[in-house]
Amino acid sequence: MDMRTQAKWDKAAPNFDFMAGRGAENRWRPFKQDLFSHMDGNILFLALGTGLDIDAFPPGKTITAIDISPKMLAQAKPRIAAYKGTIQAQVMDVHDLEFADASFDQVFTSCTFCSVPDPVGGLQSLRRVLKPGGGLYMFEHTGSRYYPFKIMMNLMTRLTARFGPDMDRPTVDNVKAAGYRVLEVNNLFLDVVKTIKAVKPA
Ligand SMILES: C[S@@+](CC[C@H](N)C(=O)[O-])C[C@H]1O[C@@H](n2cnc3c(N)ncnc32)[C@H](O)[C@@H]1O
Repeated sequence: MDMRTQAKWDKAAPNFDFMAGRGAENRWRPFKQDLFSHMDGNILFLALGTGLDIDAFPPGKTITAIDISPKMLAQAKPRIAAYKGTIQAQVMDVHDLEFADASFDQVFTSCTFCSVPDPVGGLQSLRRVLKPGGGLYMFEHTGSRYYPFKIMMNLMTRLTARFGPDMDRPTVDNVKAAGYRVLEVNNLFLDVVKTIKAVKPA
């Protein structure tokens, strides 16, 4: 377990919902609902956080959810209890998954690969527990390829990485580097906020 990352997110937990902002959540919810509507079979959700995403889950699913921060998951408890399905949440580091190879049909995640310390390593770890042909579904904010946003996001990361996410990650490239086949990238705001659908090659 990466105790440094855990401590960082435990510290962020009490103010996370306020920092995430209700406006942003409302804006992105339809896109998250669309992404999560693909949930089917044995599902792993990486980085449940305080559970803000649960509102966008389709009902009736059985979901294994993990997060490195026990304090984030403690905040998620009422949202887990309100979900009309089953969410089994546990503290776990994506870099050290305690699941057998090929355990899951699908992996979902939201605003996570801006945060995990070794994104390609984390994505490879998820690939190990995905069944061949299984889908990876991501809602992410990433760095931009366009100026001046590219420079602005590099500069912002120097500050934001101290208490939360990096703003300049090349997540689509990271997904490819981790051995997935990218099926679809849907840019929702510039080339910064996006959904990514990828598959573990069979
Ligand atoms: C920006 S928050 C997103 C939380 C939630 N998905 C949302 O959108 O509200 C990033 C989350 O990633 C989790 N996280 C960071 N590094 C992790 C790791 N190595 N393994 C598992 N979870 C991690 C943090 O604890 C935090 O809850």
